[in-house]
Amino acid sequence: MSLFKKVQNLFSSAPADPVAQADAETPHVHGPGCSHDHDHGAPKSGASAKGTPLEASAVKVTPKGSGIDQVRNIIAVGSGKGGVGKSTLTLNLALALSNQGFKVGVLDGDIYGPSQQHLTRAPRPELESDDVLNPSEYEGVKVISVAMFSGVNQAQVLRGPMATQLLRQFLTQVNWGALDYLLIDLPPGTGDIQLSLAQMVPLAGAVLVTTPQELSIIDVRKAVSMFKTMNVPMLGVVENMSYFICDGCDKKHYVFGQGGGQKLAQELGLPLLAEVPMDPRIVETSDDGKAVMVKMPSSDAAKAYTSAAKTINDSLSLMQKDSDGALGYFMLEWK
Ligand SMILES: Nc1ncnc2c1ncn2[C@@H]1O[C@H](COP(=O)(O)OP(=O)(O)OP(=O)(O)O)[C@@H](O)[C@H]1O
Ligand SMILES: [Mg+2]
Repeated sequence: MSLFKKVQNLFSSAPADPVAQADAETPHVHGPGCSHDHDHGAPKSGASAKGTPLEASAVKVTPKGSGIDQVRNIIAVGSGKGGVGKSTLTLNLALALSNQGFKVGVLDGDIYGPSQQHLTRAPRPELESDDVLNPSEYEGVKVISVAMFSGVNQAQVLRGPMATQLLRQFLTQVNWGALDYLLIDLPPGTGDIQLSLAQMVPLAGAVLVTTPQELSIIDVRKAVSMFKTMNVPMLGVVENMSYFICDGCDKKHYVFGQGGGQKLAQELGLPLLAEVPMDPRIVETSDDGKAVMVKMPSSDAAKAYTSAAKTINDSLSLMQKDSDGALGYFMLEWK
């Protein structure tokens, strides 16, 4: 059965009792408070997730030339908090990096609430072979999202391990080719997807997104603690919806308070990568399937994305020069 069919079947045959689904034989990682004593390794060779059409054996296979073999840097864009602008930032950062001459891909890691298809309207991916998909493309950036497959509205009934399997397939059975950057749009929270991702692939770093208010920062601190636990270097903080400039007075209005992102960055010893203004046109263009970097390239928001992309690239180049890519969080902080 082709990979495309397998992914579609995963949605079209949502289990009657998703909670009882496929627990024993699917990948599992320790989460906070996970104290049980069972096998947390990868699925055993040839094992299949019982009752699911997506065999575990299939997700283990990395067909030659596909997957992330030729990806230089995988970057997670995360925040403990929902709705702070992770997906919008991921896409625009990807476009900013692409504008700077890098080969870039975006993997929508939000299996339950995917956004990248809506943000790009990228078409359905093409099948390269039975086991490999060619990613879709938007403005030269390769994109894959679960929303590109039909039956997506059923995604929310997926059991955690099934979502993790899907993520694994997107990492191993998509023909990403040679990329400088693969950006992963993480779901909100600090759950299975985030933990599994860090277990599956070596993350070059994580970008933290927050809005200025303490309510958001509290959740971002949880993500910080998760990334530290997983030894993922944090590259910096992006404060989104920092201020609003109204048409009438041309003055910055700090709707959600001022300086929250800066404070967090200082507390963590990380750079503040950007302060992206709150701009209603971002909502409009995004909902139209056009990114800010494309539709409003000279806006303050686009400038902020561009500058964040530059800093991220500079930091990674420096880290990799110093350490051959093996720099951990604490060393980054020390720098
Ligand atoms: N700087 C901004 N100014 C105005 N609106 C913004 C800005 N950034 C994002 N938005 C809007 O905020 C909403 C949430 O953005 P987005 O979906 O990127 O957040 P998210 O963190 O990925 O959410 P989720 O946690 O649900 O995945 C969208 O409608 C988006 O267009
Ligand atoms: Mg999102």
